[in-house]
Amino acid sequence: MSQSAPPKALTATDIRARKGTTPLVCLTAYTTPVAKIADGECDLVLVGDSVGMVLHGLPSTLAVTMEMMILHGQAVARGLSKALMVVDMPFASYEESPAQALRNAARLMAETGCGAVKLEGGCHMAETIRFLVQRGIPVMAHIGLTPQSVNALGGYHVQGKGEDAAQILKDAKAVSDAGAFSVVLEKVPAALADEITAQIPIPTVGIGASAGCDGQILVIDDMLGLFDQFKPNFVKRYAHLAQDATRAVSAYATEVRARDFPAAEHIFTDKTAIKGEKS
Ligand code: KIV
Repeated sequence: MSQSAPPKALTATDIRARKGTTPLVCLTAYTTPVAKIADGECDLVLVGDSVGMVLHGLPSTLAVTMEMMILHGQAVARGLSKALMVVDMPFASYEESPAQALRNAARLMAETGCGAVKLEGGCHMAETIRFLVQRGIPVMAHIGLTPQSVNALGGYHVQGKGEDAAQILKDAKAVSDAGAFSVVLEKVPAALADEITAQIPIPTVGIGASAGCDGQILVIDDMLGLFDQFKPNFVKRYAHLAQDATRAVSAYATEVRARDFPAAEHIFTDKTAIKGEKS
C-alpha cells in the first residue's frame, strides 16, 4: 500500500508566491468531470460566473445568482484535489457594501469549500477587497474588461487604450495594495498588461492580455470548442468538441432509425431462459 500523503491543494498564498516564476495555468470549470480534467494540469480552477452564459444559455453574466455559484462550486470541488478553487462572486452580491461582500464571500467559502473568491472592479472595490482580506478571505481581483459592467462599458470592448491605460494601471495598483493575491487582466492591450505585470507584486492572470502575464486563464468551454455561439478573438480552440458531439448525435440518430443500434454487444441475453434452466 502506498504510504504517500494525498496531494495537498494549492492555496492563494502558493499562487501569490508564483509571481515572476513559471506561468500559472488557470481554467474555468463548472462540473465535476471537467474539474477532474482541469485538475490534472491547472494551478487554479475558477468557477466563473461565465457559467450563466456557457451552461445556462443566459445572454450575459448579470442574472447569475449565489445559488448557481454554490451549486456549481460544490460540483467542481468534488473534482479537485490539487488546484486552488476560486469562485466568482456574482453580480450584485458584493457591490453594496463591504459587509454585504463579507456575508456572501463567507457563504461561498463555507458552502463550496473554495480557497478564494474573485470579484470585479479596481479602485472602487479596493476598500471591499481590503475588508475581506483582513477577515481571512483571499481575493482574486478582476480588472480591464469586467463583464458584469457590460451595460456601463457599452459592450465587450478592449479596455485601457490610449489615455484610459492610466486608470487601469491605477486599478491594478489599488487591488494589489488592498491585498488581492492575484488579478485577472481581461481584454487590455498587451503593452499595458506587461507594464502592470512589471509594476505590481502580485501575479497577473491574462485573458486577451499578454503572454508576458504571470499566468493565463480561458473559459474551458471556449478552448474546447464546446461553446461555439461566438468566439472572442483572444480564444484559441484546442479542440472542437461541439462539432464532435454533433457528429456523434447524428450518427446515433441514423443508427436508431436504421435499427442498427443497439447491436448484439449492447443488449442482454437471458441464457438461462434459452436453455430452460433456473438461475
Ligand atoms: O467568469 C469567468 O469565466 C471569468 C474569466 C473569464 C476570467 O471571469
